[in-house]
Amino acid sequence: MKNLEYVSIRWKNDSLHILDQRKLPNEETYIIAQTSEDIFHAIKDMVVRGAPLIGFTGIFGILFWVKDVFSSEEELNQISKYLNSSRPTAINLSFELDNAVSLVKNAIKKDKTQEETMQLILDHAMAQIDKIRIDNQKMADLAADHLYKLYGEKKLNIVTLCNTGFLACGPMGTALGVISNLSKLNRVNMVYTSETRPYLQGSRLTSYELKKEGIDHRIIVEGAHSYILENKQIDAVFIGADRIVSNGDTANKIGSSTLCLIAKHYNVPFFVVAPTSSFDLSLETGDDIEIELRDEDEILRYKEYLIAPKGATAINPSFDISRGEYIRAIFCEKGDISPVTNEKISIVHAASNE
Ligand code: MRU
Repeated sequence: MKNLEYVSIRWKNDSLHILDQRKLPNEETYIIAQTSEDIFHAIKDMVVRGAPLIGFTGIFGILFWVKDVFSSEEELNQISKYLNSSRPTAINLSFELDNAVSLVKNAIKKDKTQEETMQLILDHAMAQIDKIRIDNQKMADLAADHLYKLYGEKKLNIVTLCNTGFLACGPMGTALGVISNLSKLNRVNMVYTSETRPYLQGSRLTSYELKKEGIDHRIIVEGAHSYILENKQIDAVFIGADRIVSNGDTANKIGSSTLCLIAKHYNVPFFVVAPTSSFDLSLETGDDIEIELRDEDEILRYKEYLIAPKGATAINPSFDISRGEYIRAIFCEKGDISPVTNEKISIVHAASNE
């Protein structure tokens, strides 16, 4: 297999080396995954995170099953279900798992050997990561065109939340890919990156990526969103997505829906950037999306330090729903979805992938 070498993920010596995002920005260390269980835990424990990269990593859970087990279709379905249960909200995981499972089922039907099947999945993984890179650039180009129509060459002030760059996607990124592309076009004045309590994806990861790219930015706390949108001449808000349903309702990191409502209040365009693998058109509204509830300790502690009174309890929903009616446009690799309506979503989603 061609060398797979992205900053956040590397395939070397039959193992997946995954950048441990829990340790960023202070340490750049990798964990080595060699079994399907390792992949399950890397996703569940957030060594690797971000919807597209979670999905991509899931493919290797199937690959390790082929390497170590390669038994019946029934067991293959079970391992896929197990891997899919590691994080429930991002649909990219089940999308990638379903594709990898179909590939293996086909290979079994054609009497392919274990080694041949492994090679098929590795080739598929390579094709997928190439596709992610190309798709991310298409989304960034569509967003740049849309903003050009709104603002011309003006240098923009942008707000974003969570982490949606190469750490979340492999190559480039979704919302952060848009920002990085605009910066290359010399059309960014300032990026405000939300800290993203409680896991700090914004301050730990987005700032790390923006610094690497030399993009001027300030970290803000989520409580400052109204202040920033009212006082800093914000031109656009960009977020990614973990799942987008038929009416455009979008699940993304907790705090996104508050930001969306504030943007609506100040009449700042609120944009979503996500590949079609983030769409789940089997669901009608965001109310049908399962929201991951994570451990309350992520709120009550900072590393080993208790930051609330002993015995205090917390509730830690990891995602919330921004309503389609408040989203100005969704950029996916197949097109610019604006206005965000059921009809426009189904037309763009069904378009061919040229
Ligand atoms: O819990 P995380 O860190 O996996 O959440 C990530 C996000 O919410 C991202 O914004 C989303 O996956 C879109 S990423 C390109």
